[in-house]
Amino acid sequence: MDKNATYKEVSQQILSVIEGEPSATARYSSAACLLSQAFDYFFWTGFYVVDPVKQDELVVGAYQGTLGCLRIPFGRGVCGTAAATLETQIVEDVHAFPGHIACDSRSNSEIVVPVYDATGSLAAVLDVDSTEYGSFDEIDAKWLEELCSKLLIGATQH
Ligand code: SME
Repeated sequence: MDKNATYKEVSQQILSVIEGEPSATARYSSAACLLSQAFDYFFWTGFYVVDPVKQDELVVGAYQGTLGCLRIPFGRGVCGTAAATLETQIVEDVHAFPGHIACDSRSNSEIVVPVYDATGSLAAVLDVDSTEYGSFDEIDAKWLEELCSKLLIGATQH
């Protein structure tokens, strides 16, 4: 299956699993789980959510993979850059990214996509890390941005 077909299938699966689910946690967890199984080279899939108290800091949420760091200030690393700029970050070689936070040296490339709540505020970022270099491009960005734009529609609880 090519990338588009895989993303189409996993996106439909995630959206159908979370349909009608009020809990944001259940939605994030289901998406992290199903995405982790979509591609062999996905090494870490998960969410860093905006801390409700310290709103310029991300705290780790639902994920699949090895231990992730717990907190990332806005502006730091790839996740913090996505949160600060509200722009998807595609990094072909994480070791060459200034300020990259290395949670596990097996991660070699990554994509980070902002997630918004129903009011349009930043709620979280989706972080997908790959064991390979240069795994992510505009196709990944398009599908993951579309998924993230729908992820919290209908979520009314944390
Ligand atoms: N790659 C991230 C850190 C989080 S982990 O990789 C799970 C970053 O630099 O933002």
